[in-house]
Amino acid sequence: MNVLPPSSTSDQLFVISHPLVQHKLTLMRKKETSNSDFRRLLFELSQLMAYEITRDTPLQLESIQTPLESLSSPIIDAKKMVLVSILRAGNGILDGVLSIVPTARVGHIGLYRDPKTLNAIEYYYKMPTQLYKPDLIVVDPMLATGHTAVAALNRLKALNPGSIKFLCLITCPEGIHALHSAHPDVKIYTACIDRELSDHGYILPGLGDAGDRIYGTQ
Ligand code: URA
Repeated sequence: MNVLPPSSTSDQLFVISHPLVQHKLTLMRKKETSNSDFRRLLFELSQLMAYEITRDTPLQLESIQTPLESLSSPIIDAKKMVLVSILRAGNGILDGVLSIVPTARVGHIGLYRDPKTLNAIEYYYKMPTQLYKPDLIVVDPMLATGHTAVAALNRLKALNPGSIKFLCLITCPEGIHALHSAHPDVKIYTACIDRELSDHGYILPGLGDAGDRIYGTQ
């Protein structure tokens, strides 16, 4: 039986099927995984996914001196990279990615889902300013209905970004469809495409409420 998630289905959708990513995701899904283990696994998984999402980051040469010689050696040019965390669960991914790319700037956008309509309501917005055509990496563990992601991207497009990537742990066909219908230019990176969305807006089989599992607020 093929237990791996479907691999990349388009040039705008990337499934990160690395065995370490899949292994850690399985541990996170288990209902008996503690909040502290869940948080640690999300941190580690985010570091692994950062490796994939930064694959096309531009390099520049820096003149350096080794103990033996001087040379021009590549370093990443992350000046225009902005990690945007969709509060609050996005912070779980943010910490891992930021540990790999510490020079990236960080923005936050706070949106909650109205439990009745499932629509996204904004309550917080703080972004680095004065960046010309920033390269945005928007992070949120679960791309479910897509309402929150679409609302965040609508807002972020006012910054006139050079590129936008959306990084999540798990998504579902409904979430991908919603995001790409509104924002076909945004590349989605995920560890898995799950079966479906429940009537209550949860991803199935999923892992439950990511924010509650990160912060122990169940
Ligand atoms: N948000 C979550 O935390 N989990 C889901 O399954 C869907 C949205």
